[in-house]
Amino acid sequence: MNQQPPKRTETATLRPWTDSTADIASILQAFDTDDMAGQAGEPINGVEAARRWVAPWLEREPRSGIALAIDVNGRAVGNVMATAIDRRHETAWVSYWVSPDARGGGLASAATAGLADYCFQELELFRLELAHRVNNPGSGRVAVKAGFVPEGIERAKLRYLDEAGQPVRFDVQTYSRLRADPAPLLTPLRLKT
Ligand SMILES: CC(C)(COP(=O)(O)OP(=O)(O)OC[C@H]1O[C@@H](n2cnc3c(N)ncnc32)[C@H](O)[C@@H]1OP(=O)(O)O)[C@@H](O)C(=O)NCCC(=O)NCCS
Repeated sequence: MNQQPPKRTETATLRPWTDSTADIASILQAFDTDDMAGQAGEPINGVEAARRWVAPWLEREPRSGIALAIDVNGRAVGNVMATAIDRRHETAWVSYWVSPDARGGGLASAATAGLADYCFQELELFRLELAHRVNNPGSGRVAVKAGFVPEGIERAKLRYLDEAGQPVRFDVQTYSRLRADPAPLLTPLRLKT
């Protein structure tokens, strides 16, 4: 059977993560790629690690953070999250990932715009922040399409190991989106509970 990758934003929504077998399989598939290394606190290389990754996001009442699955026709193909929610300053940190076979269809940018709307309207936040290594321009394109504005470069902020196990430091490009900023041109994904 010729199965098309689920890339289209028209049928995509945001929804809470579950610890169903299908969602755990989606998490494992998404993390099974080189560019996802470093996107979680530990390698997501087995069912137990995937369960640990999803566990904090099963609560319905967001306090310090929220993660939402990007759902296409019932399959979780990506994630958008707002963490480090600071109620005093009304800020949060945004990040995202999309499973390799679902990339290139606008999902990350529409999902990030949808998460931003949720953060501004439902969580009453004012400023959302995100950043990416300068060698990950795709992430920056997602940010700009979702209405985020570049702020600057943080020099040598992150330290990762290269293929030979040697430490390499990376500059980081930072962005923000304020509640008062103009909405992006794209159609944001909506939360379906
Ligand atoms: C970065 C990532 C989230 C993009 O997901 P996606 O669903 O393919 O993104 P979109 O389809 O919404 O793309 C939005 C824009 O980014 C561009 N883009 C996406 N990936 C790109 C890449 N690797 N290089 C250059 N541009 C890229 C797209 O072309 C599109 O721009 P356009 O509309 O002007 O053509 C995905 O590649 C991913 O999960 N990467 C690994 C995790 C990661 O890097 N997360 C960000 C950490 S800061």
